[in-house]
Amino acid sequence: MAKKRLHIKTYGCQMNVYDSARMADILAPLGYETTEAPDDADLVILNTCHIREKAAEKVYSEVGRLRLLKEEKARSGGRMLVAVGGCVAQAQGEEMMRRAPSIDLVFGPQTYHDLPDLLGRATRDLMMTGRSRVVSVDLSTDIKFDKLPEEAAPQGVSAFLTIQEGCDKFCSFCVVPYTRGAEYSRPMADVLAEAARMVRLGTVDITLLGQNVNAYHGDNGHGGTAGLGELMRRLADIDGLERIRYTTSHPRDVDDDLIAAHRDVPQIMPFLHLPVQSGSDRILTAMNRRHTAARYRDIVARLRDARPDLALSSDFIVGYPGETDADFQATMDLVRDVRYSMAYSFKYSPRPGTPAADLDDQVPESVKSERLAILQAELLRQQEEFNAACVGRILPVLLERDGRHPGQLVGRSPYMQAVSVDAGSAQGDLRGTIHNVEIGAVLSNSLRGRLIGPATLVAAQ
Ligand code: 5AD
Ligand code: SF4
Repeated sequence: MAKKRLHIKTYGCQMNVYDSARMADILAPLGYETTEAPDDADLVILNTCHIREKAAEKVYSEVGRLRLLKEEKARSGGRMLVAVGGCVAQAQGEEMMRRAPSIDLVFGPQTYHDLPDLLGRATRDLMMTGRSRVVSVDLSTDIKFDKLPEEAAPQGVSAFLTIQEGCDKFCSFCVVPYTRGAEYSRPMADVLAEAARMVRLGTVDITLLGQNVNAYHGDNGHGGTAGLGELMRRLADIDGLERIRYTTSHPRDVDDDLIAAHRDVPQIMPFLHLPVQSGSDRILTAMNRRHTAARYRDIVARLRDARPDLALSSDFIVGYPGETDADFQATMDLVRDVRYSMAYSFKYSPRPGTPAADLDDQVPESVKSERLAILQAELLRQQEEFNAACVGRILPVLLERDGRHPGQLVGRSPYMQAVSVDAGSAQGDLRGTIHNVEIGAVLSNSLRGRLIGPATLVAAQ
């Protein structure tokens, strides 16, 4: 079979990273090999994100750049297909083709298992008419996973595994329920089998993914369903799987069993991304978040009871329509009370088709910018404080890849901090293993430490 080159550019969340890897797996049997640059690619896929306006606009700029490459290739008798997948594709469908006619194929997050077929149609259309306008944006989630091939290539020491997709929460600012569709959980047996295969191929650290991952309720094979806590207990039985994480979770779906799993299962890393969005009950209600600030604080307290070394991360939106200074202060109060090791924060961005986009009391851009700067300064201060407190501690670090300097390895602490060490001539032997590292210094984006020795798992202290 003729070899073809595939370039995938991934935007947005980890779910898209996982989807991109699956797309490469699906296309491998057709002779596609992935390439780092789009220049010499036969097929370019943009796997897009629609969560905020900026993310969507980036896609059109990239399509513009690709059009030039495409034309250059056509002049020399070659062909480059441009396909746009992911959430912008889902939200805009046909509209994308109208706005950017150089796109050959638009496909949504729930139809990429059909890529070979869709590409066949696009190629046929191109040959017959000189133009392809294939659009595939069906949202019926439950078929995709059954049709995906098993992973073709090792996924790396740290890898993602999608266990749940879609969302039924309908937060008033969010496009996800419209682009990813209704909530769907994969059967537990499928997840366990996929995880075992990944571990066999060398993965030791798995991050379970879902838009609403702790809403997981997969078929347990006995006529009932299993929650995320139970799933992780079963995953922990896989020999060689050293680290388990999950993201993104919703406070509403944190149940007692999940909290207990943090206490009982040493493989679950003591780091949790638990978005709160706002600290004001008035805004939380308007956002349709279905939890209060007090309930969030209580969940955090119970999680920390179960796993005292738990570090937390979160997402925040400032400037949601109607947000007053007092509402914003409530967010700042919550941040100061909870204390985060890192966090993401955004200015509210109206998304067409979501209820909040039509509200009258939009907050002026200048107020949003001011609040975001205040919030980010506090979050950065907390992050620096957390990192500084790690100096002198011994942390188990999964040494993932070579660093910039000879003999250097870079890895992740349990808290997702990047940690670099000098492994000298042992670099090759230690790559992919978990070692204890004494943290010596905080650099701008990472920590530096000294290798102590192989690590063993430590349960909740
Ligand atoms: N505007 C700003 N931020 C948003 N997010 C989701 N939708 C919007 C929006 N319309 C943020 C939320 C979410 C994260 C993935 O992106 O904080 O948790
Ligand atoms: Fe969006 Fe809310 Fe669903 Fe998260 S829980 S994906 S913010 S609708």
